[in-house]
Amino acid sequence: MNEKELTKEVDKRRTFAIISHPDAGKTTITEQLLLFGGIVREAGTVKARKSGNFAKSDWMEIEQKRGISVTSSVMQFDYQGKRINILDTPGHEDFSEDTYRTLMAVDSAVMVIDAAKGIEPQTKKLFQICKMRGIPIFTFMNKLDRDSRPPMELVDQLENVLGIEAYPMNWPIGSGRIFKGIYDRYNHRVELFQPESNERNFLKLDKDGNIEGDNQLEDDDIYGDAKDEMDLISEAGNEFSAEKIKNGDQTPVFFGSALANFGVQTFLDAYLKMAPAPGPHKTLAGTEVEPNDENFTGFVFKIQANMNPHHRDRIAFVRICSGEFKKGMDVTLDRTQKSIRLSNVTEFMANTRENVKTAVAGDIIGLYDTGNFQIGDTIYTGKHQVEFEKLPQFTPELFMRVSAKNVMKQKSFHKGIKQLVQEGAIQLYTTYSTGQYILGAVGQLQFEVFKFRMKNEYNSDVLMEPMGNKIARWIDPEQLDEKMSSSRNILVKDINEEPLFLFENQFAERWFKDKYPNVKLTAKL
Ligand code: G4P
Repeated sequence: MNEKELTKEVDKRRTFAIISHPDAGKTTITEQLLLFGGIVREAGTVKARKSGNFAKSDWMEIEQKRGISVTSSVMQFDYQGKRINILDTPGHEDFSEDTYRTLMAVDSAVMVIDAAKGIEPQTKKLFQICKMRGIPIFTFMNKLDRDSRPPMELVDQLENVLGIEAYPMNWPIGSGRIFKGIYDRYNHRVELFQPESNERNFLKLDKDGNIEGDNQLEDDDIYGDAKDEMDLISEAGNEFSAEKIKNGDQTPVFFGSALANFGVQTFLDAYLKMAPAPGPHKTLAGTEVEPNDENFTGFVFKIQANMNPHHRDRIAFVRICSGEFKKGMDVTLDRTQKSIRLSNVTEFMANTRENVKTAVAGDIIGLYDTGNFQIGDTIYTGKHQVEFEKLPQFTPELFMRVSAKNVMKQKSFHKGIKQLVQEGAIQLYTTYSTGQYILGAVGQLQFEVFKFRMKNEYNSDVLMEPMGNKIARWIDPEQLDEKMSSSRNILVKDINEEPLFLFENQFAERWFKDKYPNVKLTAKL
């Protein structure tokens, strides 16, 4: 591929993640998008993959679930001349640091909110990471076919709870049983909600924003209210700013119902016009790598271990930052400066005939790995060394004391922990007082994977004692006095030897702050 062809291919890419709280409708919306992309023929395909409750101890099922999640980790399809990569951000019991790290590999995010519930905790956490990265965030208010909160309140929440400017692209006309559709100021039309019809039905708006010709809807109070609100927003609301959207300071807001496939295509069409193609990536040296650079570069943002003891391989997920991937190519792994041949690779390609099999900047590849890669690793071709910026550390919320079951097997225990921590599977802390090990995670699954891999890969049975939720706050070593520690704020150090407290709850944290008003406590992301 020459530079011109590469640039053209890269410009076609749209790589994003859907961020939401469980049950807001992420799976349903993904399915609709795949339908538009011609990947699934019937709704329900992705849904069927999403297994329901499973017994945590039943490894077969976890393995199955994990196996499945490899194929649905990245979904790629073509739509209107664009190649779309949707990266899955697992929630529920699959929530882990990988969920956060996936957000490091996307160029934009789609935030799905249940319009009856408003902003929920998981959405808020994921939003903050996108915000920190300064990537564009597009909002879809879902489930308008059910009674929803007043749309003004939902938009208000975006501004006041998340602190992002909202720009409604369209506005719901009622909700629930009286849901009539959306007033679409972006496309100058009213899109009618007619679930019994298979067609999309529109009414055009004239230049004053009124429905063209005679229509009963104009006499409907619900329509009148929606139009008044939209007019008010047009006059007194935020001004549309492509620049702010690009920097993640303003979010375009769309309304609809994923289940009824209403408003989703309108959303997707607008999203594709506004969302960015892959941009440059910053290196540690302070330079930027352009996506159409002829050299291939990428970084590992997630490692998925195979839970099947007979297959110890793992998959390292790589976001391509520049160039073109070719099967069998040799790359340099920056951390070790070793050359590695990329021969055993999963490409997350759309399963259509016209699909040309190329992977370029913006795409994701999965490398079968026997232990070469760590999270955050950079790989590259060409003579010039490349190391991308470090992935951030996240603040864990769940903690477990951990020790070796068999005291005679300390060696394998320490080796296993060291490697799993290095790999980024889990975080490790050591108490100041007794040197005991404490594991930290953002989701329960990380502990389960840890325990399983310790046994299967390092032949080490571990004892784990849950400590529950804690609030981790780092303290400047200069300000630290070991006497500050108590049973309600355990003093530990992280793998970089930086001290932090694990507070029992917010009350304990507040009490500490009152007692030591001059001590500065900080969280990671
Ligand atoms: P998630 O991936 O974000 O966890 O959510 P998911 O799509 O699984 O949706 C959660 C539930 O909400 C599902 O119902 C789904 O059918 C429903 N849902 C999603 N979008 C809409 C919508 O626009 N309107 C309405 N009314 N419901 C919606 P469920 O009963 O939990 O599952 P199922 O019985 O449909 O399988």
